[in-house]
Amino acid sequence: MIRSLDGADLSGKRALVRVDFNVPMSGGKVSDDTRLKSALPTIEALREAGAKIILLAHFDRPRGKRVPSMSLQPVAAPLSALVGTTVAFSPDTTGEKAKKAVSKMKPGDVLLLENTRFHPGEETNDPAFAAELAELGDVYVNDAFSAAHRAHASTEGLARLLPSYAGKALEREIDHLTAALDNPGRPLLAVVGGAKVSTKIELLKNLVTKVDRLFVGGAMANTFLAAKGADVGASLHEKDLLGTAREILDAAAAADCHILLPVDAVVARELKPRAARRVAQIDEIARDEMILDCGPETVDALADAIETARTLVWNGPLGAFETPPFDTATVEAAQYAAGRAKKHGLVAVAGGGDTVAALNHAGVAGDFTFVSTAGGAFLEWLEGKALPGVEALKGAAS
Ligand code: 3PG
Repeated sequence: MIRSLDGADLSGKRALVRVDFNVPMSGGKVSDDTRLKSALPTIEALREAGAKIILLAHFDRPRGKRVPSMSLQPVAAPLSALVGTTVAFSPDTTGEKAKKAVSKMKPGDVLLLENTRFHPGEETNDPAFAAELAELGDVYVNDAFSAAHRAHASTEGLARLLPSYAGKALEREIDHLTAALDNPGRPLLAVVGGAKVSTKIELLKNLVTKVDRLFVGGAMANTFLAAKGADVGASLHEKDLLGTAREILDAAAAADCHILLPVDAVVARELKPRAARRVAQIDEIARDEMILDCGPETVDALADAIETARTLVWNGPLGAFETPPFDTATVEAAQYAAGRAKKHGLVAVAGGGDTVAALNHAGVAGDFTFVSTAGGAFLEWLEGKALPGVEALKGAAS
């Protein structure tokens, strides 16, 4: 059972809250505060409950060493502005200085500790480092779904040492992803795009056992088309994975999952903005042409599938969306899905890697039912894997 914060008596307690502040930075400043904002409901709930909030987070991959450019210090000011109170910063994650900073806190105060990954014990999930962290708090709250696929001291070990709770954002992620994949309204449609089958083999194998229809787009669709005998010309595709693609197609057939592949494509001889291009049927691609986007017939077929679906799970772009006009299929399909979600009750859930950027580019991220802030964790969830950070909350100390 994962404990929620609702109704918990945390007055005066020191709450160690794991958040994911692995945010985009540019020139030493936070350039996208989505992940800071997603931590606010938990911070606010804890402040209202009169807890002392001690934030734990990682930034980048310093691999157990103090790397000044990977300090979390630049997060404190924008976070203070969002929370509406000064968020203090401790340049040490554990030890005497951190203890002193915690001892000065009053109920409602917020303190951010330095990057947990400056310590080698974080990524090795060293019990001694988890115990050092545990000394700083009375309870543990995990609000970092997007780091829950890592079995680290601050995401996993700590949950076993202190009474533990799910934060609001983590709870929301689990509720939405469970509703979409484990208990969905049917038909359930998955849209999976991106460049490579190789990064999504497990995900595809799991999805075909769960969804009614699976649309495959992006360059990874080229590998499936080639596996079915199509000549994809100079298109990006993985020749060594044709057998894997066939296995996935067979598994889909066995599970009664209908696979939708592109029937036409926008092809060009070079990938550059506004390159000379044409729409081609999949069986008429020239040797030196590359598939760079799905064609209009394919987008129509996908729109039909979206129209009849009750639940949609989306991961990955459908074409080279960063290089217009090869963003057309992604933008049109995303806008169509967003319209169905807004006006017709489609449950539309998206996440992972480039997906959020693609939906933002299409201007529709706000109209999806739920957009996950997670990259790797969202993919592992779609793969059907248990996430250590979530599992630890189930078997947490009480
Ligand atoms: C993310 O940004 O996806 C998470 O913070 C996990 O980061 P990591 O891949 O460095 O563990």
